[in-house]
Amino acid sequence: KLPIIIDCDPGHDDAVMLMLAVGSGLFDIKAITTSAGNQTQAKTLKNALKLVTLLEVDIPVYKGCEKPLFRELIIADYVHGEMGMDGPTLPEPTLRPETLSAVEAMALILTERSEKITIVPTGPLTNIATFLLAYPHLKPKIEQISLMGGGAFRGNMTPTAEFNIYVDPEAAAVVFNSGVPITMCGLDVTHKALVFQEDIERFRKIGNQSGKVVAELMDFFSIFYRRERPELEGGAALHDPCAIAYLIDPSIFSAKKCYVDVEVNGKLTTGTTVVDFFDVLKQKPNVNFVYDIDRTKYINLIYEAVQKLP
Ligand code: BDR
Ligand code: CA
Repeated sequence: KLPIIIDCDPGHDDAVMLMLAVGSGLFDIKAITTSAGNQTQAKTLKNALKLVTLLEVDIPVYKGCEKPLFRELIIADYVHGEMGMDGPTLPEPTLRPETLSAVEAMALILTERSEKITIVPTGPLTNIATFLLAYPHLKPKIEQISLMGGGAFRGNMTPTAEFNIYVDPEAAAVVFNSGVPITMCGLDVTHKALVFQEDIERFRKIGNQSGKVVAELMDFFSIFYRRERPELEGGAALHDPCAIAYLIDPSIFSAKKCYVDVEVNGKLTTGTTVVDFFDVLKQKPNVNFVYDIDRTKYINLIYEAVQKLP
C-alpha cells in the first residue's frame, strides 16, 4: 500500500476524494490534516472527523492552520454551503482531533518512517508550505505531492486563478518552488472530470450508506454547477478525487512535464499558476501537469471504491 498523508478542506469533492482513497484499499493513509478553504478550519476539521466516522476507519485527524500565510481567509460557502459539506446528514464524530497540529504531525510521520511518503493536498496549500518552511530537511522524505489546484488555461475565482491557489498564493509559491516533485491536477483536467445526474443515480442505487452520502453530496454540489457553469452541460466538476485517481491509475489521464510558477501579486492574475505548456522558457520542469482524463473510467473507479465502503 502506498503511504500517504491527505491534506484537505472537506468540501464535497474532498469527501469523495477521501472515499476513493479509503475504498480503493490501495493506500496506507497515515493522517488526514485539514486546511481552511471551502469553509473555516473549525468546520473543515469537523467535516473530516464526520467522514472518518462514516467510513469506520482508524485514521488520525489533525487540525491545520486557521488562515492563509499573509491574507485573510476566503471561503467557498457559495459552492459548499454553510457547514462546508451541506446536503447529507452525517453521523456526529465519534473521535476527536489529535493534539498535535497538522504541521507537527507531518514532521513526526516523515521523521519516523524510513520509506518516503506521498502528500495529497486538495485545499489551499497553507499547511504544506508551513511544513516545508519549518522542516526543509524533511523534503527528501516526500515521494511527491499530488495536488488539486491551479490551471493553465482557465480560472474559477478570477478568469485565470483557481480557488485553492487563489486563497493562499504565497503558500502555493512556496510549494511549487520547493523542489519536491509535484503532480498537478488543475481545472484543465478537473473540468473534464464531470459527474452527471445519471452517475449520481448510480451511486444512490449502490445501496450502502456511503453511496447515499455521495449521491446527496453531489445533489447539493451540482446546484452551483448547473446554475453557474452551463458550459459543463449539466455536469459538476468533481475536482479533488483526481489527485488520488492519478496515483491509482495514471493511464486514464494525459499529463506533461512542465515548468510552473505562481503569480503572487499580479494586476489581474494574483493566484494564477503560470504553466509553461509549450516550454517557451526552457526551464527545468518542476511539475507533472495533468490536463486530460477518461471521464467514464474515472467515475467507474470512484464507483467501485464506494461499493466497498460501509
Ligand atoms: C477546488 O476548490 C474547492 O472548492 C474544491 O474542493 C476544490 O478543491 C476547486 O477549485
Ligand atoms: Ca478541496
